Amino acid sequence: MPALEKIVEGSTKLVVPGYAKELGPAAKSTIFYNPAMRANRDITVLFARAVAKNGWTVLDALGGTGAKGIRLVVETGLELDITVNDSSKDAFGTIKKNIRANKLKNVRASNQEYNALLSNCGYDWIEIDPYGSPVRFMDLAFRRVSRNGIISITATDTAPLCGTRTDTCRRRYLARPMRGPCAHEFGLRILVGNAVRRAAVFDFGLVPMLAYYHGHYFRAFFRKLKGVKLANSALEGLGYVTWDEKKGYTVTGEEPVRGTFAGPLWTGDLWDKDTVNRMLESLDDDIGREAVKVLRSIDGELLQPPYYHHIDHLASMTGTDPVGTDRLIQHLGEVGFASSGVHYTRKGFKTNASLPEIKTILSELSQ
Ligand SMILES: C[S@@+](CC[C@H](N)C(=O)[O-])C[C@H]1O[C@@H](n2cnc3c(N)ncnc32)[C@H](O)[C@@H]1O
Repeated sequence: MPALEKIVEGSTKLVVPGYAKELGPAAKSTIFYNPAMRANRDITVLFARAVAKNGWTVLDALGGTGAKGIRLVVETGLELDITVNDSSKDAFGTIKKNIRANKLKNVRASNQEYNALLSNCGYDWIEIDPYGSPVRFMDLAFRRVSRNGIISITATDTAPLCGTRTDTCRRRYLARPMRGPCAHEFGLRILVGNAVRRAAVFDFGLVPMLAYYHGHYFRAFFRKLKGVKLANSALEGLGYVTWDEKKGYTVTGEEPVRGTFAGPLWTGDLWDKDTVNRMLESLDDDIGREAVKVLRSIDGELLQPPYYHHIDHLASMTGTDPVGTDRLIQHLGEVGFASSGVHYTRKGFKTNASLPEIKTILSELSQ
């Protein structure tokens, strides 16, 4: 067992492996804790405050030190019945220590392999935070979450989702990614679309409640609805996005026969506005700055599709000097277009102006 040290994350006391002060997880530790994932845990706390109900059963299925599951009890004020599970013996020992450190009665530690644990029980919320891709954990979670319950997933395999490893993306997510200026939004939408398709196999409809990209991972929270009609209508949110240097982005229902495209991917809303508002209303000093930044940016992202443009990409495409994102957004507003920044990158923006209209505005601005 590696040496442990005491920290406080949010308002939760934790013991974590001693490397925790450096950013990033220790490659060879038997206990996993990544301080760079604090925003992920902060946003999960805010999501629980906005959506979870007293009495819910929650499974933090791949819990590591238990930081996330334990924070849900300490920092929401809700009466949640939480199981924090990890197949590693050392992680299990640390989860028990962290439950004791916070004097919690309604949190239990579990030391089982994921599939074995979920073979005969269900929960109102299943949280999946694996190394890399969540795909091999998803199907069972969809079946074991109660009707109207929540499934939350993290994916750190951003390279395949963003188009650096096309074959891996095709195998894991049954979709074609697209490299380039909007790769992170396409990656997020491929992840969401894949979850919706997998759930539909079991006649479940998934509703994305909040999906985002941050730093080195994608994250998505879904509500599970049960029924063939709901599964069918969820599938209607799937499509393909093509990119053309003259026309820009176009959404199509069928797989394009030629050209540059990504999909199938989720073409609907990536978050529920009410949920985001309630999350922002529940902010307090325990939530770190990074999480607040992501949520505020999402809140300001007015246009869910269309897909975002990148200032540097447009500048090199049009041969103009790059302009500041804020200046361009302001100018688009002044000439009557809707426009906003995006949480994926500070150099990205969305607008209802067409690509030819954006090009004209850019050449006017750079004169
Ligand atoms: C990325 S870490 C979890 C991090 C944690 N959620 C946090 O916020 O700190 C993934 C954990 O899943 C555990 N794990 C991997 N495969 C598992 C399986 N099949 N069943 C149960 N636990 C598993 C690993 O031991 C590891 O601790």
